[in-house]
Amino acid sequence: MLMAIPDVLDAQQVKHARSVLDKAEWVDGRVTAGRQSALAKDNLQLSESSAAAHDLGEMILAALEQNALFISAALPSRVFPPLFNRYAGGQSFGTHVDNAIRQVTGTPHRVRTDLSATLFLSDPDEYDGGELVVEDVYGAQRVKLPAGHMILYPSTSLHHVTPVTRGARVASFFWVQSMIREDSERTLLFDLDMAIQQVQSSGAGHVAVPLTGVYHNLLRRWADV
Ligand code: NI
Repeated sequence: MLMAIPDVLDAQQVKHARSVLDKAEWVDGRVTAGRQSALAKDNLQLSESSAAAHDLGEMILAALEQNALFISAALPSRVFPPLFNRYAGGQSFGTHVDNAIRQVTGTPHRVRTDLSATLFLSDPDEYDGGELVVEDVYGAQRVKLPAGHMILYPSTSLHHVTPVTRGARVASFFWVQSMIREDSERTLLFDLDMAIQQVQSSGAGHVAVPLTGVYHNLLRRWADV
C-alpha cells in the first residue's frame, strides 16, 4: 500500500529543518547505496554521523511516535534513523529497489526494510521534476507532496526519482521494520482499524468492541515484535 501521511512536521518544524540543512555539509549520496544502486544514484546526502542529521532525525522520530495514522499504517517495530538528501542541477536516482536489511551505522542493530518513507522538506513549487515514482500493483505512482508530508510505500517496490531541473529538492528518507512483514496483512489490519474508527464515530460503539477483538487477534497471530 502506498500512503501519504499529511503534516508529519508542522510549518515551524519544516522551517527549522530547512535552516539547519541549509548550513549543513553535504556529501555524495552514494555513501549509503548498495553496489548496484550506486550506479543509479546521483544526489547529495547529509553524513549519517553529523549532528544535524542526528538532531533532525530525533525531531522526526518524536513526530512519528505521535502520529496515529503512521502508527496504524506502518505498525512499526523499528525505524531506521532518518537520513537526508538533496537533489539539484539535474540530479536524479534511477530505478532501484532498496536493500532488504540495513545496519544502523555504529550499532549492532539491523532493520529489515518493510516500508520505505520519504518526508518532503521542500514545497512542490520550489523545484521542477524530483517526483518519486513508485511502481505499485496499480502502475507507476508519481509522488510530490507539500513540505512536512510523507509518503510510505512497500520497500519491495521498484522506484526512482526524476531529475530536478530547477531549484532543489530536500527530503528525509528512512525505512521501517514493521511488526507485520507482509504488505497485504498490514493493509488488511489498517483497513480494519479505519473501519472500527468509523463504527465508533457513528455511535455504534458496542459493535466496535468485538471488531476490536478481531483486530487484536489478527495482530497477535501475525505480528513479530
Ligand atoms: Ni530507494
